[in-house]
Amino acid sequence: MIPAYYEYYNPVKVLSGRQALDNIPYELETLGCRRPIIITDKGIVEAGLIKTVLDAWAGSDLVVGALYDETPPDSSNVVVNRVAEIYRNNNCDSIVAVGGGSVLDTAKGVNIVITEETDDLMRFIGAERLRKRMRPFIAVPTTSGTGSEVTMVAVIANLEKKCKMAFTSYMLFPDVAVLDPRMTMTVPPRITAATGMDALTHAVEAFSCLQKNPLSDGYAFKAVDLIRQYLIRTVQNGKDEEARMAMANASLLAGCAFSNSMVGIVHSIGHACGGVCGVPHGVAMAILLPWGMEYNMKECAGYYAELLLALAGPEVYAQTVPEKRAGQSVTAVRQLSKTLNQLCGLPITLKDAGVKKEQLPQIAKTAQGDGSLIFNRAEADFQDIMGVLEAAY
Ligand SMILES: NC(=O)c1ccc[n+]([C@@H]2O[C@H](COP(=O)([O-])OP(=O)(O)OC[C@H]3O[C@@H](n4cnc5c(N)ncnc54)[C@H](O)[C@@H]3O)[C@@H](O)[C@H]2O)c1
Ligand SMILES: [Fe+2]
Repeated sequence: MIPAYYEYYNPVKVLSGRQALDNIPYELETLGCRRPIIITDKGIVEAGLIKTVLDAWAGSDLVVGALYDETPPDSSNVVVNRVAEIYRNNNCDSIVAVGGGSVLDTAKGVNIVITEETDDLMRFIGAERLRKRMRPFIAVPTTSGTGSEVTMVAVIANLEKKCKMAFTSYMLFPDVAVLDPRMTMTVPPRITAATGMDALTHAVEAFSCLQKNPLSDGYAFKAVDLIRQYLIRTVQNGKDEEARMAMANASLLAGCAFSNSMVGIVHSIGHACGGVCGVPHGVAMAILLPWGMEYNMKECAGYYAELLLALAGPEVYAQTVPEKRAGQSVTAVRQLSKTLNQLCGLPITLKDAGVKKEQLPQIAKTAQGDGSLIFNRAEADFQDIMGVLEAAY
């Protein structure tokens, strides 16, 4: 059914394929820039990826204004201010972020404080608080999960309040997203699995959330279809270039879907697990997705039934009677988590992920305040969230 009214917007230019990196100098020139700061993290540098990027730019007249490689996992407002100061001190004119979601979201935060000429990121928490056009920003994802390279979302930790702050604004879209197979081949199996489950969660939640529409559905469905075919293959052999590019595209498609239709309860609880207990985002998604789907079943069974075709493939879909398809979709997700657990030890329970039972009420309380919950089709109060958490424990 087509919603009575919807909006869709995504202005990000996508470069996908081998040599995509080589075109960054041209893209920056087109944006009127030649002195970017590169924002990344130590893991990316150690994997040799920054060298690959700089080699790809050899021969161009690009000048690297500064390189910041100390982004921590799940970066914070403190880091954002530190990087912004480096940007200003080195007269940079643009941002190239090379990394996973933590790096890309840090870069978005940096862009906010530079553009708004402030050091108080907190002022811009929430939806559509930004009005000024941001500095040119190129996103080079090195994980296939968050889709942050095509989203209007940034998630940044607030260290004092032990929570994750979400920022959404049309201004936050990067100008260009660069998917180059050389950037994801080095991701270790467990991070490949966790980030892939993050992408799957974006697609499943986008397909069932309140703002879903035909455009977000198309992106979400294709993302799930690619993840079914390629995630396990990528975890089994990280050097499989075809599978890596399929996962990079799946993550991007899921990002386009959820940036528009938003995510729901799985992300609300997952953000809270990250804020309260430091569970990595993708790990939380992998654990919580089937339980969140079960919770939503009363409102979303029809959408989950439709998704079975992408989640389990045409044979299973055809062999499953219509009234069993939604439940079969949850089974397909559980099966995928189980296979990933066997292949690389991806946790299946919150307990395995290091969460303490006595932390569950604090997680539930934090999740209640998370912005994603308002887009979830089924309403959820404290007790409902505790129910999901206890089931996932
Ligand atoms: N903005 C959004 O739309 C959005 C959506 C979902 C999640 N997020 C946020 O993204 C963050 C998680 O991002 P992530 O899952 O990509 O993980 P990450 O960025 O935290 O990276 C995880 C680890 O993988 C390493 N790594 C990354 N790429 C590598 C590569 N190619 N080779 C070797 N090592 C590599 C990093 O060094 C790091 O140690 C969370 O903060 C989450 O809240 C944002
Ligand atoms: Fe996510």
